[in-house]
Amino acid sequence: MCQLKTIGVLFVCGLVALIAAFASTSPRELTVLVESVKGHLYGMVSRYHKFWKDIKEPSLVVESKRREKDSDVLALKGALKYLDVDFFNESKVREIAEGAKEFNIPGFKENRKLVASVDGGLHNPSVLVFDSSWGIGDGSHGVPKFNYPHLSGVTRPDTEDDIAFMTILELGALIKTKQITSSELTAIFLRRLKRYDHVLQAVITYTEELAYSQAKMADELLDQGVYLGPLHGIPYGLKDLVAVPGYRTTWGSKTFKDQVIDTEAWIYKRLKEAGSVLIAKLVTGSLAYDDIWFGGRTRNPWNIEEYSTGSSAGSAATTSAGLVPFAIGSETCGSITYPAARCGITALRPTFGTVGRSGVMSLSESLDKLGPFCRSAVDCAIVIDAIRGADPEDLSSRHVPLDDPFSVDIKKLTVGYLEDAEMEVVHVLSSMGVEVVPFKLNYSIKSVQQILNFTMDVDVLSHFDKWQRTGLDDEYEVQDQWPFELRRARLIPAVDYVQAQRARGKLIREVHESFTVDAFIGNATDWEKVCLGNLVGMPVLVVPTSFKSIENPPKGGTNRRTTVTTGIYAPPDKDHIALALAMAYQSATNHHLQRPPIDDLGPNDPITGRPNDLITVHGES
Ligand SMILES: *[C@@H]1O[C@H](CO)[C@@H](O)[C@H](O)[C@H]1NC(C)=O
Ligand SMILES: *[C@@H]1O[C@H](CO)[C@@H](O)[C@H](O)[C@H]1NC(C)=O
Ligand SMILES: *[C@@H]1O[C@H](CO)[C@@H](O)[C@H](O)[C@H]1NC(C)=O
Ligand SMILES: *[C@@H]1O[C@H](CO)[C@@H](O)[C@H](O)[C@H]1NC(C)=O
Repeated sequence: MCQLKTIGVLFVCGLVALIAAFASTSPRELTVLVESVKGHLYGMVSRYHKFWKDIKEPSLVVESKRREKDSDVLALKGALKYLDVDFFNESKVREIAEGAKEFNIPGFKENRKLVASVDGGLHNPSVLVFDSSWGIGDGSHGVPKFNYPHLSGVTRPDTEDDIAFMTILELGALIKTKQITSSELTAIFLRRLKRYDHVLQAVITYTEELAYSQAKMADELLDQGVYLGPLHGIPYGLKDLVAVPGYRTTWGSKTFKDQVIDTEAWIYKRLKEAGSVLIAKLVTGSLAYDDIWFGGRTRNPWNIEEYSTGSSAGSAATTSAGLVPFAIGSETCGSITYPAARCGITALRPTFGTVGRSGVMSLSESLDKLGPFCRSAVDCAIVIDAIRGADPEDLSSRHVPLDDPFSVDIKKLTVGYLEDAEMEVVHVLSSMGVEVVPFKLNYSIKSVQQILNFTMDVDVLSHFDKWQRTGLDDEYEVQDQWPFELRRARLIPAVDYVQAQRARGKLIREVHESFTVDAFIGNATDWEKVCLGNLVGMPVLVVPTSFKSIENPPKGGTNRRTTVTTGIYAPPDKDHIALALAMAYQSATNHHLQRPPIDDLGPNDPITGRPNDLITVHGES
């Protein structure tokens, strides 16, 4: 196109020159002019010729483009010295150059236009707030607790399977009424973990010794008449980002697989105080990315032929398969919502800042959140109640003033539904007296996904700077994940990082303004919404709503299923509304109580039999 324009301009110049020439007087001038016109025409013709030749012979164009790129790469390699980043070899520098053009620059431009062009950007301050106070108090004590329902008449089922799929509240009732001890429960869940983990690859470390000592303590306390609440004696698992003394904390990564961090993460302390029993450290995808970790790849219990997604892969898979009553996972962008949706369980990504993160691997201080994976929304409420509060060592945590979800009157709520909401939930809530209205979030920011990338990638790289500099990223499990993304993060200038935080502020204001309902229902895994929700710090509850046949089922049929879920979103600090709505929905339906067919695939599914057979069928090692 450009070449054609140039030719056109030259042609017009030539014509003008000719006319001028004939209108002029001196023959000498005429000769000069004719010569000059000839020159222009010649130039024009040869450009025209080259243009068509290039089209006919694209290899020449490709060759010249390649040379240009090579010199770009050399220039960049030289320039990286000034950023103290001169350790990349040429192929990596080439990849960085391409990544910067494709992923970084369009976002820089958009954000600059959005927040930096008017009045020195003063109308759009950065959302990263500086707090000059000297530390925050421990806000975990003195916070009023939710009023959980008290179950009566719960009796111990006959089989371990039936016990394993009970909710926290039901298991708590068994413990409190001494129909089962915490030690017995611990043994049941450890047995199940070991039985199914061959297939699911969801456990990194069993914390067996710790588990039995914590269970024994819970049982002794109860014998002394001390009952700590609904988590008393309940086994659980932690995503292996959370430090627990005496055990390794691997972050799912080969590089860190022998790492021991001898501190008690704040969330672990809280769960210990609540009387629960840590039985395993569960898979996180390597450095909290997807479901691949140094020991394998975690599977989806609903369809063991596919993977769980991540990065809270182990938390989702084990809860889904009834291998733990609940688990803790984390989300920076999608790591709770994706695996919860894939594995068909109820999980809460709470308001940013609700749960303290000290002792937990950090990707991004302004995005990371810890949250529960459970069998029901009621259980999520119980767990979040135990772990919320301000952590003195996590400057972003605070006491989020949640109301009691068990006393929300849902009939007073107006709930929006987006185009991609699962309508079954909407209909059920409507039939229970909730006012439901069609809804759309309205915001003008086009660069939501870029803002997420800039924020997350720069923050992650600042944590894993040394890791990249020393070439450890070459050992990372999947090269096109963090290694690729974090190399191009070297070319995000500090200015554009801050610009992104200011654009994020504008996004938050617009979302706030357009959030005219009490909650809304929409797809929990749509990428734009995942980025938006995390940038805003907005809570979402993932709720299973049905099951579909798998694609390409075996001829004889199968019990394997695809799970269908939806998200219930609430404004920040209103997690209790999402919880209350999900509790209402789940009180009228039973999708959340379905058990995945992990060793009952159906008589004609060619993947036959029990989990132990599956290993040989799949040849997984
Ligand atoms: C650069 O390093 C990577 C990873 O170590 C390697 O695969 C690649 O071949 C290297 N490229 C060059 C040009 O040396
Ligand atoms: C964000 O990064 C991911 C991972 O590299 C990439 O796939 C995606 O396209 C990026 N998004 C944008 C909008 O640049
Ligand atoms: C949507 O937001 C834009 C600004 O972001 C505003 O101009 C417009 O009026 C809003 N539309 C609705 C329907 O609220
Ligand atoms: C929700 O989003 C995911 C990811 O984009 C998509 O696969 C799924 O089909 C969507 N569900 C609905 C109901 O739109």
